[in-house]
Amino acid sequence: MQEPKRLSLATLPTPLVRLERLGRMFDDAQIWMKRDDLTGLELSGNKVRKLEYIAADAVSRGCDTLVTEGTCQSNHCRATAAVCAKLGLHAVLLIRPEPPDEVQGNHLLDALFGAQTRYYPLERFNAEREDIVEGVLAELNDAGHKPRWIPMGASEPLGCWGYIRAIAELAEQLNGFGISACDVIVPVSSGGTYAGALLGTLLNRMMDVQLWGVPVSDDVDYHMREIGGLCRRTVNQFELPIDFADTSMRFIDGYVGEGYAIPYAAAIQAIRLLAKTEGIMLDPVYTAKAFCSILDGVKDGRLGQDRPVVFIHTGGIFSDFAWPQNLLED
Ligand SMILES: Cc1ncc(COP(=O)(O)O)c(C=O)c1O
Repeated sequence: MQEPKRLSLATLPTPLVRLERLGRMFDDAQIWMKRDDLTGLELSGNKVRKLEYIAADAVSRGCDTLVTEGTCQSNHCRATAAVCAKLGLHAVLLIRPEPPDEVQGNHLLDALFGAQTRYYPLERFNAEREDIVEGVLAELNDAGHKPRWIPMGASEPLGCWGYIRAIAELAEQLNGFGISACDVIVPVSSGGTYAGALLGTLLNRMMDVQLWGVPVSDDVDYHMREIGGLCRRTVNQFELPIDFADTSMRFIDGYVGEGYAIPYAAAIQAIRLLAKTEGIMLDPVYTAKAFCSILDGVKDGRLGQDRPVVFIHTGGIFSDFAWPQNLLED
């Protein structure tokens, strides 16, 4: 097995810390956090780990432009824009739906990092996605650029290496703290973070580590299908020496709420609780919803009692500034 080329863009390793004050509120529950919100490149969260591999591939193939898609508040688009600024590449972001009235949060940073943004009505983008992407890539080629397309969330086999590597890092840190058995919880949307992390636990033979994905969009059947496919493609493409089976995927369901990026009261309370007890910010789209599964688990004794529970904090703080009223309202 050969690790693909990687550009060192993130500040690694990220800290693994115990949330002592929070744990004391729940019978001394052993709640830990892997601070991947602190990966650097302006708090790029989980995305920069994936982009370290994808950008290395783009640069080695002589590409001068990264093209990707997302919403106005996409952490992935913002992280791609930051990586491009750092490497002197162009970023072209296909944003759906159409432009917001106010430019704020992640989208403000897209502009400051110098990304070019193109807006599409959501329905049109969904209906004509492939044609739109092909058209943009052809146009950039015709203009003398060499673009590299990055799928949503950088969830492609190469991007999975970001979390294969992150889990090796976590394994070493757990070892340093004398922790051999634990539950690890990660938010799931486009799936590359969970897929990479799962492959990482299999590669590192972490038999006593149970990795749980908490969907914050779509349903579990969808993620089983998509993430299963992504894991298989990654195993095949890089000849990973593991037997991947769908049965190794585990999800904790029930935290999407009404839909992707629609906040709910428990998630807002989780943001406030972490802010007040630990001085750590979660975000309303991904990490707060996933963290609710830990709060429920420690309350009913399923998590953090017999063995530690580790939350992978995947970042996303800039969304807090996009919807401040949600965080302040009771
Ligand atoms: C802050 C944050 N956490 C979690 C996720 C979910 O990661 P993935 O899309 O790899 O499932 C994302 C990306 O969509 C994100 O931006």
